Amino acid sequence: MNDLDHLVQAAADEFSAAATPADLENAKARYLGKAGRLTELLKGMAALSPDEKKTRGAEINAAKQLVESALNARRHALAEAELELQLRAEALDVTLPGRHRGIGGLHPVSRTMERIEAIFGSMGFDVADGPEIETDWMSFTALNNPENHPARSMQDTFYVDMKDAEGRWLNLRPHTSPMQVRYARAHAARYAGRDPMPEIRVIAPGRTYRVDSDATHSPMFHQCEGLWIGENVSFKDLKAVFTDFCRTFFETDDLQLRFRPSYFPFTEPSAEIDIAFASGPLKGRWLEVAGSGQVHPDVVRNFGLDPERYIGFAFGMGPDRLTMLRYGVADLRLFFDGDLRFLSQFK
Ligand code: PHE
Repeated sequence: MNDLDHLVQAAADEFSAAATPADLENAKARYLGKAGRLTELLKGMAALSPDEKKTRGAEINAAKQLVESALNARRHALAEAELELQLRAEALDVTLPGRHRGIGGLHPVSRTMERIEAIFGSMGFDVADGPEIETDWMSFTALNNPENHPARSMQDTFYVDMKDAEGRWLNLRPHTSPMQVRYARAHAARYAGRDPMPEIRVIAPGRTYRVDSDATHSPMFHQCEGLWIGENVSFKDLKAVFTDFCRTFFETDDLQLRFRPSYFPFTEPSAEIDIAFASGPLKGRWLEVAGSGQVHPDVVRNFGLDPERYIGFAFGMGPDRLTMLRYGVADLRLFFDGDLRFLSQFK
């Protein structure tokens, strides 16, 4: 063996001995680095004659190639070993039993909303969605509830300290009734040329807000507005539709409805709708589930329609209340606490 063979052998031995990529890079530096042994040999050639340079240079380069291939082989082997280790560490025992994952379910109020939509949908009602941040005009003025009128305080409204682009004050809608106006105006505009205009038949479910909190009131609650306007829609249709709805919703005909005279600025006459079950734990107790009435002529005018020609009814019901009644829950706040022990019972 000549000196170069020794050097190649020594390099190969050191590379094999390197246990980590960092060790290997250090070993590499000792041979191929700036002050490495092969590099020094190449520098030493400066003193040789041209002929000697030629043969010696070729020998050194051949040795250098051998060192480099030994280095690459070891690099590859170390990488393989590392991958092997990692694979072993991450090995899965596919025969182990799986971990249980809870399956989500619909919130009981969402279930009620879906039922309401399905039932009114089957009666030909459209379902509309609208903004929860409303203008003063939509929430009150358009609904015949002028500024400074005491009826505005029927609803303890959350006002937003901000105006819209047209300078109207904003509020968190205290009821879904503004959707009567939004939907009817859009409908009237869309069918402007049609005579007679196709009837408006819509429900608008959604979140509503009032400064109110006890066992049967939550600052955020739900309402579902209903509106039916045409040339021949009367209070008797309201009674029929709402009675049908309640019987289908509660899956019983053993149920009575009572239309109790009331006041809302946007309906005339107005009525609260109470229901009473003929059997079950709530037997015989009258429970208020909705406000309703024949839409006031001024409101029909704000819809963009002629109140001499178009008439109808509106109602606003409380899906949270309906959920309490359907499942026998006594405290509304339970629905919004987010306690899975309570909520998972409705899955
Ligand atoms: N918006 C009324 C309320 O929140 C309910 C209602 C709706 C009454 C439609 C009549 C007609 O109390």
